[in-house]
Amino acid sequence: MMLRYGVKKLWIDGKWCEATKYSQLIAPYSKERIASIAVAGEADIAAAIAAADRARQTMKRMAAHERAAILERVAVQLKEREVEAAQLIAYEAAKPLKLALAEIERTVQTYKFAAEEAKRIYGETIPLDAQRGAEGKVAYTMQEPLGVIAAITPFNFPFNLVAHKVGPAIAAGNTVVLKPASQTPLSAYFIAEIFHQAGLPSGALNVITAPGAVAGDVLTRDERVAMITFTGSEQIGKQLQQQAGMKKVVLELGSNAALIVDNNVNIAAIAERVVTGAFAYQGQVCIAVQRIYVHESSYEQLVNTLVERSKQLKLGHPLELETNMSALISEREDERVQQWLEEAKAKGAKVVLGGTVIDGIFAPTIVVDAHPDLQICREELFAPVVVITAVSSMDEAFVQVNDSRYGLQAGIYTNDMTTALRAAQQLEVGGVIINDIPTFRVDHMPYGGVKSSGIGREGVKYAMQAMMQLKLVVMNSMPAA
Ligand code: SIN
Repeated sequence: MMLRYGVKKLWIDGKWCEATKYSQLIAPYSKERIASIAVAGEADIAAAIAAADRARQTMKRMAAHERAAILERVAVQLKEREVEAAQLIAYEAAKPLKLALAEIERTVQTYKFAAEEAKRIYGETIPLDAQRGAEGKVAYTMQEPLGVIAAITPFNFPFNLVAHKVGPAIAAGNTVVLKPASQTPLSAYFIAEIFHQAGLPSGALNVITAPGAVAGDVLTRDERVAMITFTGSEQIGKQLQQQAGMKKVVLELGSNAALIVDNNVNIAAIAERVVTGAFAYQGQVCIAVQRIYVHESSYEQLVNTLVERSKQLKLGHPLELETNMSALISEREDERVQQWLEEAKAKGAKVVLGGTVIDGIFAPTIVVDAHPDLQICREELFAPVVVITAVSSMDEAFVQVNDSRYGLQAGIYTNDMTTALRAAQQLEVGGVIINDIPTFRVDHMPYGGVKSSGIGREGVKYAMQAMMQLKLVVMNSMPAA
């Protein structure tokens, strides 16, 4: 049988390379076999690292305007192929086409931001004579690329979260070994080809599809790799950090993002945003609205409005433009979420909408009366389930939001300036979104979490800062005669 996306080999040193093993890629919704994907072994991963290491000097010497021009061409070429790229995400990740197109639009922006930032890598001058004995000396700092960066990316934004690692890495003059999620390899190979056509030197971007544990071990062990940048689960992130030794590590991990809703706000408008925040891409977004703490005066209205609005969502094939929600990334996820809901019901929670899988699609699900210790509250759900709790004050809401080992982003709707500012101060998260849902991100803003949600920040400029190291140059205007 002809596979829609054929056979994908490894992309190493600017060439397609055979692997000794291949696995079948299955579309999560249609269950169609769509491609045969190379499975890299340890030697293949080492070959990718070696290629990245060889390309290091070429990239380090490349002028900023050349790196910018490559990234600009990537943005242009991706825009030209946006429908093809979006369809690919819809197939491999079951992301509804409308959202897949929006992801490509964001990815184009991310590469454009990277192109711009490539030209803004500055140091500073430091008059050293502030200290006695350093008269006549002045210093300047420069930012140098780290070298080989290992990027390990998740399935949920297969183009844009790759762009958030590859874009800044190339903008800063590094080379990359990219290990995409095993469910979404096609998009990674697609962008590697575009980079090649855009003139990126061979070896500057290598893509290897491999089992996560094998890739994680080889990439963290190899001394030629200077940095690991990872987006994915808390468990794997913590493991990578332990293995990484002296390498720099940036981790974007899980979350159970919360939204606070004060009294005297426009519940109908908020419910509309919550539908997006909780159910877009089936809730498989790190900043999806998972927990809502709403003032008791608006609780009933919010629950009822949300139930009515969520019933209108169209579940279906990800390739259809009118589809709002499709399948989760695997059936195992359906089972996990159902088990967590069973536990919640057994402990008194009420499922007021959904809770079932309809024709392979987890229905939008709304839960109330949930104890904060339940898995649906404490763990990252990564599914279309939202838990609503009434609170009697904003202080109570702040305590509940902070009662979590995660802290990525939180949102608060309030008409009270003091409450908004108190939220900004008191919420233990990487980003507080005032008068919008936590599911807000544009691609140049700093993005990342505190506590178990991660280490470091992405957002092109911030990711680049982590991908460079400072070098000091001291100049002496009074050399010894
Ligand atoms: C994520 O799931 O961490 C990324 C969210 C986004 O980029 O919108």
